[in-house]
Amino acid sequence: MQIRLAVISNAGGSGKTTLSVHLAYELGQRGFNVALMDLDPQGSLTLFCGLNPPEPEETLAAVLTDKFDGNWPLTPCWSEYTSQVVICQGGMVLTQTADELVLHKRGAYLLGDCLTDYPLEHDLIIFDCPATLGPLPLMALAACTHLVVPVQLEPKSIQGSAHLLEWYYYHCRHLRLKPSPEVLGFVPSQYDSRKAAHRQIKESLPAQLEQMNIRVFPAIRNSAEFVNASGQGLPLHLYRKSHPALSDFKEIASHLANLIGKPNQKKAKKAS
Ligand SMILES: Nc1ncnc2c1ncn2[C@@H]1O[C@H](COP(=O)(O)OP(=O)(O)OP(=O)(O)O)[C@@H](O)[C@H]1O
Ligand SMILES: [Mg+2]
Repeated sequence: MQIRLAVISNAGGSGKTTLSVHLAYELGQRGFNVALMDLDPQGSLTLFCGLNPPEPEETLAAVLTDKFDGNWPLTPCWSEYTSQVVICQGGMVLTQTADELVLHKRGAYLLGDCLTDYPLEHDLIIFDCPATLGPLPLMALAACTHLVVPVQLEPKSIQGSAHLLEWYYYHCRHLRLKPSPEVLGFVPSQYDSRKAAHRQIKESLPAQLEQMNIRVFPAIRNSAEFVNASGQGLPLHLYRKSHPALSDFKEIASHLANLIGKPNQKKAKKAS
């Protein structure tokens, strides 16, 4: 089955784009076809994928217009190394899109509508969201099957994610999402085992979330190599192929792989 995963957090710099990129590459390595979608006006995915900024008509903003005819602007990522990952780029033009969504009759449902009218064959579609709980993440919520929440192990971020969960429960009801997208889990990010606060919060988080039936995946450790890799437009897999932090993504990647089941061979054949 196709999984549409929204990577959402209302905290800036919590590791959304890093998680999106690494899950995309990791699932690609496992034979799945992955489409990244950048819902962030900052357009960080473009940088993390080593691509040039797109023309506005080559972005997700063009998909979300009434003129869209199903010709998804998808660009291959890390094409020297893989044919499994593509991206629908974002950028500043999405600020205008966000304003227009508020007035559009089907605002929150637009992305879901596009995926219904013009389906993509990819096994996994990842929506990299901006650090707000505004119209763009709301549209991702209405279009996704699952969401994942990267969170830094700091008190402020934990408090922020409580607000995020309130937002999630409220809007699943308010938008009448049936079935409601499932919270795949929280992913602690930038974990530094030398910091007592990080260790304490990492210990206590699973029990707090268990009450809501939400799991906590293994923490992604802090490493300067993530910053270096993104500066080169590469996932860590390609920048430092035996870096120990790569093992931190295995459990969540396996979980996604199990949910998807078999790769969609139809698309895989088309790509090769
Ligand atoms: N595990 C990590 N260790 C060290 N640095 C990291 C790690 N994960 C992400 N970073 C760095 O932290 C910064 C923020 O990460 P990222 O851009 O993924 O967060 P974000 O939530 O997408 O941010 P924004 O809210 O701006 O979209 C980046 O410079 C990234 O390279
Ligand atoms: Mg980001």
